Amino acid sequence: MSKITLEDLKKLREQKKKELSKRDSEGKTTQIIIGMGTCGIAAGAKDSFDAFLDEVDKNNLTDVSITQTGCMGLCYAEPTVEVIVPDMPAIVYGNVKADIAKRIVNEHVVGKALVNDHIFDKPAADILK
Ligand code: FES
Repeated sequence: MSKITLEDLKKLREQKKKELSKRDSEGKTTQIIIGMGTCGIAAGAKDSFDAFLDEVDKNNLTDVSITQTGCMGLCYAEPTVEVIVPDMPAIVYGNVKADIAKRIVNEHVVGKALVNDHIFDKPAADILK
């Protein structure tokens, strides 16, 4: 087994710093919040979380935070994800497996179009601006 070098450790630190910065919502306008209560995790929320991280990375989106929250109380629709994009209604998506997570980044966050077949909840029309 080879020894880890100081250079390896520095690279690892930079990589981890970059990963952690995506979880910091300070100063970022777009938020992706993933329900990671027990049933969310059982339904695959961890894979969805990783898919969001990958896709945000691939698209070089620096203004997006990806965070987790607890139980959203929606067992049957897990994994559930709230997406907040400026000038768009806040949306809660349901059954967000990894492939849908990728669609949400590309269609909603980048393309500014809702992923209609996975919307679980959104504000009523009369409270939208
Ligand atoms: S335990 Fe299922 S939504 Fe909370």
